[in-house]
Amino acid sequence: MTLPFALARRFVAGRTLDDALPALDPLLDDGLFVTLDLLGEHVHERPRAQAFAHAYGDLVERLADYRDARGAAPEAVGISIKLSMIGQVIDRGLAEANLRDLLARARDADLFVRLDMEGSEITQSTLDLFMAVYPDFPDHVGPVLQAYLHRTAADVARACAFGARVRLCKGAYKEPASIAFQDMPTIRWYYRQHATRLLTEGRYPGLATHDDELIAAVQQIADERGVSRDAFEFQMLYGLRPETQRQLVRDGYRMRVYVPYGTEWVPYFSRRLRERKENAFFVLKALVKG
Ligand code: FDA
Repeated sequence: MTLPFALARRFVAGRTLDDALPALDPLLDDGLFVTLDLLGEHVHERPRAQAFAHAYGDLVERLADYRDARGAAPEAVGISIKLSMIGQVIDRGLAEANLRDLLARARDADLFVRLDMEGSEITQSTLDLFMAVYPDFPDHVGPVLQAYLHRTAADVARACAFGARVRLCKGAYKEPASIAFQDMPTIRWYYRQHATRLLTEGRYPGLATHDDELIAAVQQIADERGVSRDAFEFQMLYGLRPETQRQLVRDGYRMRVYVPYGTEWVPYFSRRLRERKENAFFVLKALVKG
């Protein structure tokens, strides 16, 4: 079945960058930061990987122009990228070359590039690629770590030792119990442990969650440990909890919104539907209304 894009509109800013850019205006106007994600994943053909690498390069330049035309601060705008789109699952050398080109352009534009984390079959290769390029671009690239993976405590410790900027999330993929915690209380417990370490020993962490319990925990950790509100940022997805996003900014926190766009929106959209029944209800309501 082909899903109509109208259903995804609440979660996906547009099919093209031209569609998506206007969606950033109200976010920046309200003091939110953004990270733009060109949707796509697991590209197995070299020409497509190259096409995505070029598209990401163009995105960096157009986004920096947009940011500068608005007079926004450099850190207000960044991009998120999946390495599996630019050659990771074809040839490591190709992925590293594409990533280096992209990071050189991002450094010139003073724009931060977040490496999204995908399924566990490429966790190690993603962190290896990150470590290969990080020494050359220490201020412009950072990984994502997933609280549900058993390995993450060691990865958090390593990231803190290297001074790498981490986004912490729960983890969105279906992983086996041999490598990932399965129940929410345990995942939350580990999220809190990792957040504590990143807030106290890490460098400007991004705490990505819509979960009130974890948002309150992060606020409490920061208060108790004397971590200032501009030393970290909360992160949420476009279209989810927009009021909470703005309330956090009004309360003096930094909040970055992850804004996806592109024609390959179905896998991302399906993950959002699986995650929460409210998201699925929203789509059903739109269907019924026609
Ligand atoms: P979750 O869906 O677990 O809900 C927990 C509780 O939060 C709910 O019971 C409710 O109380 C509250 N809540 C959540 N959504 C709400 C809503 N819409 N309205 C009201 N209450 C709500 N994953 C990954 O594997 N790799 C990655 O690179 C990324 N990147 C990423 C970036 C950003 C900015 C975000 C926010 C998330 C990711 N993720 C991700 C996804 C992440 O791993 C996770 O799957 C989702 O964020 C869902 O987990 P939450 O903690 O947000 O809430």
